[in-house]
Amino acid sequence: MTIDADTQKRLAGEAAAALVESGMRLGVGTGSTAAHFVRALAARMKDGLSVSGVPTSESTAALMRELGIPVLGLADIDTLDLAVDGADEADPDLALIKGGGAAHLREKVVARCAKRFVVIADGSKLVPVLGTFKLPVEVVPFALPAVLRELAGLGARCAVRVSKAGATVLTDNGNIVVDADFFPIDDPARLATRLDGIPGIAEHGLFVGMAERLIMGMPDGSVRTVFPRAR
Ligand code: A5P
Repeated sequence: MTIDADTQKRLAGEAAAALVESGMRLGVGTGSTAAHFVRALAARMKDGLSVSGVPTSESTAALMRELGIPVLGLADIDTLDLAVDGADEADPDLALIKGGGAAHLREKVVARCAKRFVVIADGSKLVPVLGTFKLPVEVVPFALPAVLRELAGLGARCAVRVSKAGATVLTDNGNIVVDADFFPIDDPARLATRLDGIPGIAEHGLFVGMAERLIMGMPDGSVRTVFPRAR
């Protein structure tokens, strides 16, 4: 029997919720897999678990409020005990591409505040090399033409993200998202450093050296945990 991707995501979200202990302050990710984590947390809270968390997007904040999970801001915490979030791709070192939901800036800030960062996904997200999924780059609107030139100079083919209705997608921070095709990304750390140095990029979706583990729901209904490859 093969289970569908959404069920795989649910299994991963439930496995991550099982790592949570009462009193923890959480970073709460964005996307369909993270939403399963939020629902699994809410179910555990009905059984007495007490937690609160910093959401990584307005949509996650709304879901947390709807399910009665206390919402914190970054001013309320020094550190977070655990951040849990989805990913668009992960390589064997657990370098990630994130930002398919345009939330990667807040996701990176929140993950950086956490002592542990756990990634949850369906089984398709682990890939040998990053970059089939185009790299989301959040760009300050004023800087867009200059940033597009810089990205082209690094060899990327770029498209400004638009909605199905044809409108330019804006992030929760009021910025534009450029989807940049760098395939194959053989050295994610090197590319991340280059992107970090381009003025006008608010944040890019490469998360390097941040994930503690990747929990995947698999097509056969099992749950697989992957740790960064030993070097
Ligand atoms: C949000 O901006 C992203 O980083 C998501 O975490 C990522 O796109 C994974 O989304 P799904 O869980 O919906 O696949």
